[in-house]
Amino acid sequence: MTIPVAILGATGYAGAELVRMIDGHPNFAVAHLGAHTQAGKRAGSVLPGIAGQLANMTLAGADAIIPDAVALVFTALPHAAAAKSVAKALALGKKVVDLSADFRHQSPAIYQQAYGIEHPHPELFKQAVYGLCEHTRDKVAISSLVANPGCYPTSMLLPLIPLLKADVVHKESIIVDAKSGASGAGRSAKTDLLYCELNESVKAYGLPRHRHAWEMEEWAEGLSGAAIRVRFVPHILPMGRGMLSTLHLSGSEVERWHGLLEQSYRHEPFIRLLPLGELPSTAGVRGSNRCDIGISLLGEGEAVIVSCIDNLIKGAAGQAIQNANLMFSLNEETGLPKHATWP
Ligand SMILES: NC(=O)c1ccc[n+]([C@@H]2O[C@H](COP(=O)([O-])OP(=O)(O)OC[C@H]3O[C@@H](n4cnc5c(N)ncnc54)[C@H](OP(=O)(O)O)[C@@H]3O)[C@@H](O)[C@H]2O)c1
Repeated sequence: MTIPVAILGATGYAGAELVRMIDGHPNFAVAHLGAHTQAGKRAGSVLPGIAGQLANMTLAGADAIIPDAVALVFTALPHAAAAKSVAKALALGKKVVDLSADFRHQSPAIYQQAYGIEHPHPELFKQAVYGLCEHTRDKVAISSLVANPGCYPTSMLLPLIPLLKADVVHKESIIVDAKSGASGAGRSAKTDLLYCELNESVKAYGLPRHRHAWEMEEWAEGLSGAAIRVRFVPHILPMGRGMLSTLHLSGSEVERWHGLLEQSYRHEPFIRLLPLGELPSTAGVRGSNRCDIGISLLGEGEAVIVSCIDNLIKGAAGQAIQNANLMFSLNEETGLPKHATWP
């Protein structure tokens, strides 16, 4: 079975990973590549990482008609622009995985708080499913519109949800100190991302409240039933890709936490819980669809959890394909790398 796929935003960092991974997928095939400012160009002239037939495809414009044969559309576009393309694709009867933030929230009001704009298609909220596969796979499997989770929320929610469900974490004092490589900010030109600004430097950004804080709080509650308050501080690092979130937690029965995570994720192909006391690194997940989790117990009622993902794979394109596999009743692991490119 080969399912023709459209990738909108194919010239961005998340889109480029989709192009590469879909081309290697046994059941999906790239049928349409959409771009914006780069429309009309040869794909290979804008995406240095691809070769062969794919490189000779012409990039279609954002408003170009998606071929009838296409059954699945990935939208890897900036928020707000994504919602418009999602609406068009759904109207054509396509299934959609949206990598933007446009359908990650449970109501247009929360979206407006987090993103500061009115949602262009609030009528579509009801049909969107949050695609954190490990916790929502049954809903994803029957959905036509999946909102792929944000990269920071993915790295934070995966270790936290089982502990919240077990009611062993103090919900008011959750600190998430996170680091991302520069690809997390996308490919468009920004002064902050110039080599001389980034190199030999680490800096915090997004304060007082980064947009992903809303998503973290909303889905921590949505998926565990526990309302939390999170203090989230992201940092940008001089590396291309990779994301590390350090969760500073306090609570009860900390000696049980490792066992609770082990129980939840024992059978999950893309979560690797390290032995108690060992901590993961971004190098250990680069190029893979894995989330690696480590716990260090600090003492009476206190622990630190470190969670690592590749922001462009488990944090974007890989998780999007994991969702798409479920939507088309394929094995969830199909076409997804479990192993990292190391060193
Ligand atoms: N980067 C990450 O780590 C990451 C992780 C998770 C989720 N996401 C989300 O995924 C989406 C894409 O992120 P990215 O980092 O890949 O961004 P990016 O590198 O800036 O790429 C943006 C893509 O969207 C196209 N585009 C820009 N403005 C457009 C418009 N008004 N209408 C239609 N297309 C437009 C661009 O086309 P041209 O190149 O032709 O202008 C490009 O293909 C964003 O919503 C982002 O929040 C990103």
